[in-house]
Amino acid sequence: MAGKTVTNGAARCGLNGAALDRPQQDKTGMGRVDLIGAGPGDPELLTLRALRLLQQADVVVHDRLVSAEVMACVPAHVRRIPVGKAAGFHPVPQEQINALLVELARSGLTVARLKGGDPTIFGRGGEEFEAVTHAGIPCDYIPGITAAQGAAASARFPLTHRGLATGLRHVTGHRARDAALDLDWASLADPQTTLAVYMGAANVAEIARELIRHGMPSDLPALAVSQASTPQEKRLLATLQDIAAALARKPLPTPVLFIIGHVAAMADDCDLPHESYRPEWRLVAHG
Ligand SMILES: C[S@@+](CC[C@H](N)C(=O)[O-])C[C@H]1O[C@@H](n2cnc3c(N)ncnc32)[C@H](O)[C@@H]1O
Repeated sequence: MAGKTVTNGAARCGLNGAALDRPQQDKTGMGRVDLIGAGPGDPELLTLRALRLLQQADVVVHDRLVSAEVMACVPAHVRRIPVGKAAGFHPVPQEQINALLVELARSGLTVARLKGGDPTIFGRGGEEFEAVTHAGIPCDYIPGITAAQGAAASARFPLTHRGLATGLRHVTGHRARDAALDLDWASLADPQTTLAVYMGAANVAEIARELIRHGMPSDLPALAVSQASTPQEKRLLATLQDIAAALARKPLPTPVLFIIGHVAAMADDCDLPHESYRPEWRLVAHG
């Protein structure tokens, strides 16, 4: 692509200018849509820009994963439209959500489309962006803290770490309409790359089995984090080989994310299944 200089709206306004930078209706009376990351649950993990846009919106269209604490940041007079999805149960089909966003913006409203975590990571944010921009409606992404970052921060461990993890991959452990998982297992089975597995709770046994079959060490630490960054957060640390059985014995409430890799051994305060935990991991992790 030819070089092009772009001035970003967020860069334009410093914190002081932020309150003045209200999204404007254009001259045709068209509204706009912002695809806003709500983060994993803790409202303090919202960006300043997300918070400002929530406070300036006419209507908030929100997912099920957006926490009550984040929704409490939306002023009482702002209309709320829940379009929540749960695994295998989609009360509002994606096409209807796209159409709703277009319709609301066409009627002149400033729409905050609030999605759990980051809107560009496993949130179908790209489809909503396409639908809205193809309708000629202004639209921006507002990044959010993704669940893996929230989980790592609250358990106080790094996602990469010298000597333990030279990279990080975010993968889905679920396919649409429960189709078979067709991940590139050989490329995922790298013990030097931290693997953050989203939507993997129902398939964790298969995920662990395939990773081990493709060369991942069976005793690699695997951490399940439920409701990361909320007061209800729970963690379970096991080996890759044992994580599915440990979860079957002690199921965790959704949403659940898996962090697989050496860095997971550095997580704080895990509920450790005795037969899986190896204290030497912690020594390795901290050098
Ligand atoms: C449809 S994906 C959305 C991911 C989101 N866009 C993000 O960036 O975090 C939903 C999955 O994200 C993970 N997830 C989202 N919020 C979470 C949280 N607070 N704690 C643990 N996992 C979470 C779970 O794996 C859940 O099944």
